[in-house]
Amino acid sequence: MERGEIFGLLGPNGAGKTTLISILTSQIRGQHGEVAVLTEDPKNGARLRRRIGLAAHDLRLSDYLTGFEALKLHGRLYGVNSKNLEDRVNEVLRTVGLYEKRNGLVRTYSEGMRRRLNIALAIVHDPEIVFLDEPTIGLDPYGRRQVWRIVWDLKTKGKTVLLTTHYMEEAEFLCDRIALVDRGTIAAIGTPTELKARLGPGKIIEIGVECTPALAEDLSQSLPDGRVHSQGGLSISTENPEAVLPRLLKRFVSDPGYGGARIVVREPSLEDVFLELTGRSLQEHPRISEDDPQKEHNRRFWRPLANHFHGKTDPNSTGEPRTVASP
Ligand SMILES: Nc1ncnc2c1ncn2[C@@H]1O[C@H](COP(=O)(O)OP(=O)(O)O)[C@@H](O)[C@H]1O
Ligand SMILES: [Mg+2]
Repeated sequence: MERGEIFGLLGPNGAGKTTLISILTSQIRGQHGEVAVLTEDPKNGARLRRRIGLAAHDLRLSDYLTGFEALKLHGRLYGVNSKNLEDRVNEVLRTVGLYEKRNGLVRTYSEGMRRRLNIALAIVHDPEIVFLDEPTIGLDPYGRRQVWRIVWDLKTKGKTVLLTTHYMEEAEFLCDRIALVDRGTIAAIGTPTELKARLGPGKIIEIGVECTPALAEDLSQSLPDGRVHSQGGLSISTENPEAVLPRLLKRFVSDPGYGGARIVVREPSLEDVFLELTGRSLQEHPRISEDDPQKEHNRRFWRPLANHFHGKTDPNSTGEPRTVASP
């Protein structure tokens, strides 16, 4: 990553985005390879953590603090000068659009507000690099745009941002450069334009039919000018749509078996680049977790802590050592 850029990790669920962030932010160690963040080895965690900020996608918020209090607490923990602390907290609250709501309890915040507070916690100590793990997942388009505005604002202040997403429009909109991540490896790195240029001057033809392996095989044989993709629906990438399209029309529109299937010709997207390089779709693994991350976090973090202060042991304690590794 270059200083001052917005760098995106784009890949489906399970690609290894969170794992990479955990390594870069000194929460876990990789088994191989070398890592340098701001020229430091994340092994020197304590020193590095003052210079980086992390908004993990499981929100680490206490329901029973106000937004203002939560930020003040974080600011203290990260060594913000106590003379300037309240000014800094108010400045950050304004940056993320929560100043009006600063005295409301976090539990009364909407999902979008919680996400923005989570980002505020990551930046209160004015870090040089900000790591945002899926900052917009599950937000509506308005909430998403508010987060984008915060990210752009960080860039104008000279910060470096690394964010993960599995929304290709988001990566394309926000990021100066993108790494396409698949199964723990980087399939390609470049600007959105560079990545799309990898597909050559071609077009994508989408056909709205169920794609069986037999149909994909048959089309691959009969369309020498096109590459057939059957992941997440049938699509064909081709540099020669003029030749391919008539054959497809004949095949799908004239054949009563397909009943006039919908056919669309469009420009390639990052999703197509990903598909071409990895053979997989970005949306291949839908997130099916039913768990409420806040509840889980309360159970693992705040409840044992409260019980500890009240001299009780928690009968439902997970029994895991409770190390707070979040930088
Ligand atoms: N480079 C890697 N090599 C081997 N396993 C990995 C690697 N990166 C991630 N994993 C494993 O893949 C799984 C999913 O990774 P995760 O980082 O949660 O994906 P994502 O955040 O992209 O959804 C985890 O079990 C993780 O341990
Ligand atoms: Mg993840």
